[in-house]
Amino acid sequence: MATVQMKVRPEDLSLVPKNDERIPAAGILVIFGASGDLTKRKLLPALFHLWKADLLPQKFSIIGVARRPLGEKFAEEMRAGILEFGDAQADDPKLDAFVKNIGYYALNFDDPAHYAGLKSELERIEKERGLCGDRIFYLATAPEFFSHIIDGLGAQGLAHTHCGRSGVVIEKPFGHDLDSARELNTRVNAVFHESQVFRIDHYLGKETVQNLLVFRFANGIFEPLWNRNYIDHVQITVAETLGVEGRGPFYEQAGALRDVVQNHMMELLSLVALEPPSSFEAESVRREKLKVWKAIPSIPVLNAVRGQYGPGTVGGEQVPGYRQEDRVNPESGTETYAALKLEIENWRWAGVPFYLRAGKRLPQRATEISIQFKQPPLLIFDQLQRTGVCPMIEPNLLTLRIQPDEGISLRFGAKVPTTMEMTVCPVNMDFDYASVFGKSKANGYERLLLDAMLGDQTLFSHRDGVETTWGLYTPILDAWAAKKPSSFPNYAAGSWGPACADHLIERDGHAWRNNLGKRS
Ligand code: BG6
Repeated sequence: MATVQMKVRPEDLSLVPKNDERIPAAGILVIFGASGDLTKRKLLPALFHLWKADLLPQKFSIIGVARRPLGEKFAEEMRAGILEFGDAQADDPKLDAFVKNIGYYALNFDDPAHYAGLKSELERIEKERGLCGDRIFYLATAPEFFSHIIDGLGAQGLAHTHCGRSGVVIEKPFGHDLDSARELNTRVNAVFHESQVFRIDHYLGKETVQNLLVFRFANGIFEPLWNRNYIDHVQITVAETLGVEGRGPFYEQAGALRDVVQNHMMELLSLVALEPPSSFEAESVRREKLKVWKAIPSIPVLNAVRGQYGPGTVGGEQVPGYRQEDRVNPESGTETYAALKLEIENWRWAGVPFYLRAGKRLPQRATEISIQFKQPPLLIFDQLQRTGVCPMIEPNLLTLRIQPDEGISLRFGAKVPTTMEMTVCPVNMDFDYASVFGKSKANGYERLLLDAMLGDQTLFSHRDGVETTWGLYTPILDAWAAKKPSSFPNYAAGSWGPACADHLIERDGHAWRNNLGKRS
């Protein structure tokens, strides 16, 4: 493998550059559903990373809100979470200073009477700490509570503050189909103006996802080729080795299409396909993404296939099938794998198929986008395919590795050094994120939390975007719900998914790329 590397010393890099304009105003971040895993594993470690990098204001409070009466134990649990999942040392004085900002308030999300108490608590903290500033509400609860919380905040006038900004961050899933997403949007927008709403998709916090925009629009060489004249097809894969990890009840209601395809994969697709935005402002970027989604014609149900894993072996370990997982219906019809083909009907992409697949309990964990270019018009080396040295002269392939092994590689044909004949072999030119920039300790939420606190919506979904993507998938979900698959489970854990997914792509003369990551 040919490797093109330019070393950047980690000490030359401030991974989150300090810039006074990027420090939010003093304020309070209220996290609903704070006793859940997300807060301990991701949000608090990310907030601590920001604090350590001096990117949070000194006057800043984090209030966890959940049903259980946790009191002071909450701050202790968060400290332990930061040490376990974040970049922190137990004796770091910055950690002690940070933990002092953490408080807790017990509340029943669906009891409107409790919100008056929360309001008084916020006012008390603000007075005590001399804080009159922003209030951001982060909804990390189960989705059935989103509307209750929004209504409760609205009833107490908490959507506005007299001396700062107020905003709401809403975790996925944002609705479970088009109607429910519309209804939730209406409820949210009845209380918060769209400019105050941050619908979060953690994929957009990943450096490599943001790098898609840089790769396309800060480099001149690929953009002229980035269209139907040169690109044969695009594959996007989100492969996971994990199963449902104790989230049976949630996953039973979700399935792969709702859990990953409608949101994370559509974000990836939009960044691959969008037209150059006129600036990196929220409005421009979100407008271009919406244009992509709107240009996708309805996806025929025949172009979408589903699968469910049975028992098998992943990473050398024997694992149960989905139906044997904790709190999963033993006859469940929920899909743990989905694959589909879609098209984008605009001048750039007409006729270029996009193949998407997402699955749990696959042999490798890898999120990748591969752009397969067309074959050269004339293959003057075709006779060498018979030599057996390199069986195929393969078309150029650009692979954007989102995770793990973050990087980009370009496959091209090179001459094998031999005097006997002209033998062509595919080789890779590889850019590896970690070896150039060092391994980042950030978990992706740093950027998203900071942007939400600063009021920058560029990396968050707009109401129209969420409704458009749900509009594409709701007919498929309805058709699937109407007909329970008789063949489930139809792939073994540790395999690359059901045979119907292979047929879907083979119909067009293509094949899934299954050997993902740096070794491909
Ligand atoms: C979440 C899904 O949104 O994304 C999970 O609910 C999935 O089921 C996860 O495992 C994948 O995220 P990542 O960052 O691990 O690729």
